[in-house]
Amino acid sequence: APQVPDILSPAFAADPYSAYRLMREHAPLIRHEATGSYLLSRYADVERAFKDPVFTTDNYGWQVEPVHGRTILQLSGREHAVRRALVAPAFRGVDLRERFLPVIERNARELLDGFREDGEADLVGQFATRFPVGVIADMLGLDRADHARFHGWYTSVIAFLGNLSGDPEVTAAGERTRVEFAEYLFPVIAARRENPGDDLLSALCAAEVDGTRMSDEDIKAFCSLLLAAGGETTDKAVASLFANLLAHPEQLAAVRADRTLVDRAFAETLRYTPPVHMIMRQTAADVDIAGGTIPGGSTVTCLIGAANRDADRYAHPDTFDIFRDDLTTTRAFSAAADHLAFALGRHFCVGALLARAEVETGVNLLLDALPDLRLAPGHTPQERGVFTRGPARLPVRFTPASR
Ligand code: HEM
Repeated sequence: APQVPDILSPAFAADPYSAYRLMREHAPLIRHEATGSYLLSRYADVERAFKDPVFTTDNYGWQVEPVHGRTILQLSGREHAVRRALVAPAFRGVDLRERFLPVIERNARELLDGFREDGEADLVGQFATRFPVGVIADMLGLDRADHARFHGWYTSVIAFLGNLSGDPEVTAAGERTRVEFAEYLFPVIAARRENPGDDLLSALCAAEVDGTRMSDEDIKAFCSLLLAAGGETTDKAVASLFANLLAHPEQLAAVRADRTLVDRAFAETLRYTPPVHMIMRQTAADVDIAGGTIPGGSTVTCLIGAANRDADRYAHPDTFDIFRDDLTTTRAFSAAADHLAFALGRHFCVGALLARAEVETGVNLLLDALPDLRLAPGHTPQERGVFTRGPARLPVRFTPASR
């Protein structure tokens, strides 16, 4: 069988998609020597790893606990169900529509106003990396004077989580952020308990399920998780959506003309270029899968980026096509399409509807404000990242708004 590039090698980072193809076709179960983790790349196997409870999230303890503390990601069973029920209502339904849509719109408009008269912008640096983090800070009801610090913590947390080479400075900065974030947030939580408002933090303080409420530490850990789970992911989804549409001008024109297609562009972006390429699980017992056996107690890496391009699941999987008819979306909630970008099962992304609302609002406002949006001459978007992935920069040109 052909040699598959190591997932931690520069060759893999430059083009994971051809490595994924080799894996799916020749080595659907690989033991990664350096980390001892087992790699799954076929759609059916990754889907099973998300749904079958023999694949647990126990290993999140060592992965994310040093920076976030204990979050719902690490939990399982009834404890997870209760903790999830405490936070989930804020991310759907009335709360999402009435409280948070105006916040989303405000953040998108403010960023747009920063460059719409310039005729050029970097949609990653000036829009995507700022938009979801600003939304979360406003949802939590943080003082706007603190947004710059919040953004700094965001940068430090995602650097910690993406620190593949184990750079000790990045690790130390992540651990410092855990302390600073707690020092900042505990007094804010205390103030909201005293004097609740109409914000997410107050809702988390008040939430109660079966007599269980969240401690200050639980709330802080959840807010820290939101930085990475709700920030970096949506950031990369927005950036990749624009990169994909700008690379396919006829599909961009179709979306511009018919905005009901924004949703399809979002779903197809999540299939074709998912923000999160790799999700880890741990086996509770020996598992027979992908033609081999994974011993109990092993770490498993679910390659979402590979599964989403499995030719057994999607026709012409390496083509970005918002009109494809084999990406099943439901009318009520197209973000929950059958791609695996939000995972599946009990840890299915809590923020999927929020992400969709952000993308829909952001894309519509940008298309309205920026006529004849196109890539800067000579620029081809380059994806960056291994665990999470998206374009590094997205320089664009457009007709400037008149002053
Ligand atoms: C879980 C992806 C947006 C909050 C997850 C998981 C994935 C994911 C793959 C599953 C993790 C696992 O099973 O180990 C994404 C993508 C997004 C996005 C691709 C954007 C396009 C958001 C947003 C929020 C959010 C906007 C909230 C502000 C969460 C939380 C969990 C989660 C709290 C943990 C759920 C649990 O453990 O029960 N997300 N996410 N995500 N996501 Fe998202």
